[in-house]
Amino acid sequence: MDFILIIWRQQNVKAKGKFMKYDIHDISPDCSFLEMLDQLNEKLVDKFELPTCFDHDCREGICGACSLYINGRPHGNDSGITTCQLHMRKFKDGETIVIEPWRARAFPVIRDLVVDRSAFDKIIQSGGYISVRTGGVPDANTIPIKKEKAELSMDAAQCIGCGACVAACKNASAMLFVSAKISHLSLLPQGQIEAKERVQAMVAKMDELGFGNCTNTGACEAECPKEIKLSNIARMNREFIVSKFT
Ligand code: SF4
Ligand code: FES
Repeated sequence: MDFILIIWRQQNVKAKGKFMKYDIHDISPDCSFLEMLDQLNEKLVDKFELPTCFDHDCREGICGACSLYINGRPHGNDSGITTCQLHMRKFKDGETIVIEPWRARAFPVIRDLVVDRSAFDKIIQSGGYISVRTGGVPDANTIPIKKEKAELSMDAAQCIGCGACVAACKNASAMLFVSAKISHLSLLPQGQIEAKERVQAMVAKMDELGFGNCTNTGACEAECPKEIKLSNIARMNREFIVSKFT
């Protein structure tokens, strides 16, 4: 397969970026999107040109590093997958593919397609953990938890912190991410002890770091590779209000 790639190139956070056009040929339909970019970079290096910087780590949908905006959609034109799981057979032969970094004030561009998502780490550091003594594994197994709650918690725990929800949102809101992190802890008895302090601290940090508010558009849920539900945001809002009055 052949493709025309229009890729955002930017030397650093202060530099003015621009789109550059590259032609790439003889790509296998079974090649992943990142493998296609690897091949482009090999060709650029052969020509003594700077390779395109993009983020990746696990390449199996777990780490959330492969944050690319492809043809106007975070993680590309498929649902429920990350960029590293996207294959070239999903595109038409000869198609023009536009590749951009996440665009949000709280995610500054480091270089080309790589953005700084440490704002997410700061939100987690503000309260996304359990610090009370919860005992060992045998203790956990003796605490009965309703199946429905355990499943909701595990669903929320699937969030991989990729940031697609922020990139998809017109307000660059991080509420889907933050609410998933809050929900997976507060739905379980071990996480309820610090629930009030946690929701207040994490919401305050999210606001401080420049993420926008939620206006219920639902773009975050539609583009989330782990299909995290908007109902987590409703749960977070409820927890936040209750924490202010109790
Ligand atoms: S909620 Fe979904 S889109 Fe947002 S960071 Fe988590 S996995 Fe990524
Ligand atoms: S590289 Fe880890 S999720 Fe894509």
